[in-house]
Amino acid sequence: MKASILGLIFVDIFLTQVLTGTRANQANERRLFDDLLRGNSVHVVPVNDETGAVTVGLGLRLTGLIGMDTKSGQLDVNAMLQQKWVDESLRWNSSNYGNIKTLAVPLSMLWKPDIILYNGISKEQAFHDDTIVLEYTGRLRWIRSMRMQVRCDLNLAIFPFDNQTCKFKFGSAVHHMHTLNMTYVNDDVSAAFEIEMDESGKDWQLVNHTAGLKVTHYSCCSFQTMVYTMVFERKPLYYIHVYILPAVILSLLIPFQLFLPPESRERLTLGSILIISNIMVIFKLQEVLPMQHVTFPLLGIFYSLNLIWSFLSLLATICVLNVHNRGPRQGKAPDIIRSVFLSCLKPIVCLENDNYHPVISTDCVPMKGFESPGLSTEHDEHRDGKIGSKLEADVEDLNRQLHILTARARSNEVKEEMIGEWRQVSLVLDRVLFFLFVFTIFIYTVVLIYIVF
Ligand SMILES: *[C@@H]1O[C@H](CO)[C@@H](O)[C@H](O)[C@H]1NC(C)=O
Ligand SMILES: *[C@@H]1O[C@H](CO)[C@@H](O)[C@H](O)[C@H]1NC(C)=O
Ligand SMILES: *[C@@H]1O[C@H](CO)[C@@H](O)[C@H](O)[C@H]1NC(C)=O
Ligand SMILES: *[C@@H]1O[C@H](CO)[C@@H](O)[C@H](O)[C@H]1NC(C)=O
Repeated sequence: MKASILGLIFVDIFLTQVLTGTRANQANERRLFDDLLRGNSVHVVPVNDETGAVTVGLGLRLTGLIGMDTKSGQLDVNAMLQQKWVDESLRWNSSNYGNIKTLAVPLSMLWKPDIILYNGISKEQAFHDDTIVLEYTGRLRWIRSMRMQVRCDLNLAIFPFDNQTCKFKFGSAVHHMHTLNMTYVNDDVSAAFEIEMDESGKDWQLVNHTAGLKVTHYSCCSFQTMVYTMVFERKPLYYIHVYILPAVILSLLIPFQLFLPPESRERLTLGSILIISNIMVIFKLQEVLPMQHVTFPLLGIFYSLNLIWSFLSLLATICVLNVHNRGPRQGKAPDIIRSVFLSCLKPIVCLENDNYHPVISTDCVPMKGFESPGLSTEHDEHRDGKIGSKLEADVEDLNRQLHILTARARSNEVKEEMIGEWRQVSLVLDRVLFFLFVFTIFIYTVVLIYIVF
């Protein structure tokens, strides 16, 4: 069946118009209508005398994809449904009726198959279904152009690299298969489901479509269902830009929060911004994905892990800032911290060239600095009484002042060194946490990518 259904229906109507164009043929047509349809009941199923059933050939042509809403799982399409059957009581001898071979009969004058869309979520809207084309052989063709909505079983685990399968299920509302026998139109499976649509610019691409006739047996009888299955593949480019790229960038930023120097107060700002951005990204994802879904999307897991890790890195920042700022107030770094952080971990985390390390040995400095001026003052007083020279006393006084100054400088130096030491500890701690965060974020990203592909 190569020619379009719409084309055929127009050809039919055109032929009917041409053939009935003359006044004589108008009379013939009127007579034919009277003869054929006067006693015709629209309620009686036109069963075949031999089989006791009417055989209806069903064909679907998908003409447009209006949209797929993954939040509600709703697929919205335009399609043409073609139904063909034979009513032997509607035959005529065309030579008796001015060679009229086809007749366009209004819908209301004929029996129609009661085939409905079982799984539609709203009443299908028909755009054109008011005429049935009748041939002199008794063959009838009814084409309905309509908009249909069905709910698909969504599997969003690997969103946005997912394929979705949607089904249109058609069947008779009341008749079992021994009265209304459904088949593929023209007895051809490939003709039973045709696609004629432009998918460019759409989110989805149809990658497979099949038609299948299913029979369900009950104790009384058997019912048929014509199932049209279509598989859509999501075009992921847009979603990569809008949903994956921001999350990846945020996850890259998380460890680098620990890379800022501990003096920088912006670390806390950055940490808070990361948490807020991660929450916003999660809200964005919730716009396209249904909340009540069984299989949680892996992208959602990625977002949640990012949120947790940005929270942990903020906690880590707070700890490091504490070590950096409050450590020196408690005096020198304990030996265990010095040996673990400054001796063992420092070279491992590539900080051995960071030269904030004390240049002089810190142990003897405070003693020297504080003791020497004290001793010299005692000596001065001794000598002052003995010599009494004004000049020498001044010099001694100057000397004493100098000692005090030196001692003060030394004590400041010691304080600086202590601060430097704690700064070292916090730097090493930072760097250790940085590597830890980089490692874990890398691991969970790789694991999620591995599951998706
Ligand atoms: C149709 O009618 C014509 C003339 O009445 C007759 O010759 C012909 O045999 C009929 N054809 C059939 C198939 O009945
Ligand atoms: C989606 O369908 C396409 C085409 O059949 C196939 O190449 C791809 O692997 C499918 N993707 C998934 C996730 O099943
Ligand atoms: C239904 O139609 C098919 C194809 O025309 C035929 O093979 C089958 O026997 C019919 N079944 C019934 C119950 O009429
Ligand atoms: C299309 O779906 C049918 C039925 O599931 C399957 O047998 C067939 O291999 C699929 N074709 C492609 C190209 O995926």
